[in-house]
This record gives sequence, structure tokens and C-alpha cells, in this order.
Amino acid sequence: MLIMSIESSCDETAVAIAENGRSILTDQIFSQADLHAVYGGVVPEIASRCHVEVISRLADRALEAAKISRSQLDAVAVTYAPGLIGAVLVGVNFAKSVAAALNIPLIPVHHIRGHIAANYIAFPDLEPPFLCLAISGGNTMLVDVRDYTDMRILGATRDDAAGECFDKTARVLGLPYPGGKHVDALSQGGDDRKYTLPRAHIEGSIYDMSFSGLKTAVVNLVHNAEQKGEELDRASLCASFTRAVSDSLVPRTMELARELGYKKIAVAGGVAANSRIRADFEAAAAKAGCALYMPPLKLCGDNAAMIACQGYYEYLAGTRAGSDLNAYANMEL
Ligand code: KG4
Repeated sequence: MLIMSIESSCDETAVAIAENGRSILTDQIFSQADLHAVYGGVVPEIASRCHVEVISRLADRALEAAKISRSQLDAVAVTYAPGLIGAVLVGVNFAKSVAAALNIPLIPVHHIRGHIAANYIAFPDLEPPFLCLAISGGNTMLVDVRDYTDMRILGATRDDAAGECFDKTARVLGLPYPGGKHVDALSQGGDDRKYTLPRAHIEGSIYDMSFSGLKTAVVNLVHNAEQKGEELDRASLCASFTRAVSDSLVPRTMELARELGYKKIAVAGGVAANSRIRADFEAAAAKAGCALYMPPLKLCGDNAAMIACQGYYEYLAGTRAGSDLNAYANMEL
């Protein structure tokens, strides 16, 4: 079964074509990051306009690269939530047109379900159930993946997402947008114990997380140093910050897996590309005797391959949308 998928929830326009879910024939991505970098963050209207400009050409390119004709497509899958509303609308409308023109089913896909599915592409033998930590620019959640389309959130951030916290830290240090990978690079060789930073605990809700206190602590530390004319050890600040984030994510995930009796743990989303978080997960999983699944870096960030993969399982589960499909900035998993 051939599925074309569309992803436009933030600042990447992406179109992929997959065969039977896990076999990716092509994964075309146009990143708008350079357009937004001058503003230090994503400008929603610019993102929507850019999606409109490139999406048709990207779909043509995907067909060419996969060497298939439009008539061979069996279904079209699309991210319909969550994301920047104007940006998601572009992908949803384009997917509706494809479905109508080719008379094929339209499959709505939740963006975070897509991130989780990136692991199915990277690990052909992975099957639910397992525990997944989804860490992206807008979401941070612990998901019990009971089946391909049956998931429940067992813990989540109460405020900022881990990715937002990376991006804010980068911004206050004057690093380019998107900041996570620059904080990662700068932290190499830094002393992760040099700066004392907070780790939040939510009273009575041990699997929930909070990153706003950590974000504020980094901002205050940088501003105080600037006011006093003190020079910061930027590498050590990035390393200390990343360690604080990892300390909030890795032990919680391992403890929840233990409580659920799961021996399979997956990590997903843009922040799953972080080298420190990956290393900490590897060490913790080895110690606990758990199998660990982390997508390669190119499948951590936004892409359409993951939407095609999840779209396939949604299709098998009978999920379909009509021509009245809408886009949503927020949506239950
Ligand atoms: O999953 P993603 O591409 O988009 C969303 O669905 O939100 O995640 C983007 C986030 C950004 O906050 C970015 O700074 C962060 O992932 N990120 C990283 C790294 N690479 C990307 N954060 C930490 N370390 C990295 N190496």
C-alpha cells in the first residue's frame, strides 16, 4: 500500500511516500529555518506563506524521487494537529485536494503520534507495547504506547516543553535559531557541574515535569553575569543546563517503565537528537536491562516519513477523514 504524507505543522514543509508504513520510498523536506533565524524564532505568518509556496512542488518532487505516478497512490496522510494553526491548515488543505483529485482516502495523523512512529521506521522489529518519551519543540510527554493507535499520556510538562527551554537558553546566549543543536555543540567539553540549576518536582504527580523554573534560572544567571560584567563559561553553562534537562527526563522515564513492567523504551522528537540525553538514556537502559529505541538524528526532527508510517497504522485501524477535516493547534493524543 502506497501512502503519500504531508507535514507542515511548524517550519518544515515535508512530503514523503511510504510503502506499507515502514518502507520509505522518499522523504522530501524543505526547512524554512533560515527564513526565521533572523527573527530568532518561528514567525507563524511567514511559515504559512512559505508552506503555500513550496508544498505542490515538493509533492511533485516526491513522486519523481519515488518513481511512481499519482494514480499509484492508495491514500494520503496529513498532520492535522497540533501545531501552528495557519501552517497546519496549508498541509490539511493540500492533502484534501490530493484525496479529492485522486479519489483516495484521507488519513488525519496527530503530529506526536508521528514522532513516536519514527521509531518504527528506524527499527523494523519494534512493536507496541512500549513506553515512549516524546520531546519536541512544543511537547514533552511520557506516552504508554499500548498499540499503534492506542496511547495514553502518563506524564507531561506542566509548562514549557524541553525544546522551548533549549531554544530560550540558546537565545539568551546569542546562539542562532533553532538553538537546541547549538547548545548541544557548545556543551561538548563543558563542565556539567559548574553551574547549579534547579530540577522541578511536581508534588503528588511524579511523572509530570516542569521546565519554566530552569528556563528562568538560566536567563537570570546570564543577565546577572552581564550586569556584573562577569564572563560566563558558556560551554559549562550549556553542559550544566543540558544535564538538568536530562535529569528531569531520564530517571522519570526509567522509573515509569519499571512501574509499568516495560522492558522497551523509545525516545522521539527533536530533542531526542541531543547527545547528552541520548548518552544518559543508553547508560540507564543498559543498567536496567531495557531495550532502547532512539531514531537516527534525521528522523528526530519534523519530517513526513513518520506521518506516512503512522498514517499506515491509522489506516489499518480504520481512521479516515472527510472533506470537512479541520486543523487544530492543540489536540488530545
Ligand atoms: O520535533 P521538532 O523538530 O519540532 C517539533 O515538533 O516541535 O523539535 C524541535 C526542537 C527545537 O526546540 C530544537 O531546538 C530541538 O528540537 N533540538 C534539540 C537538538 N536538535 C533539535 N535540542 C537539543 N539538542 C539537540 N541536538
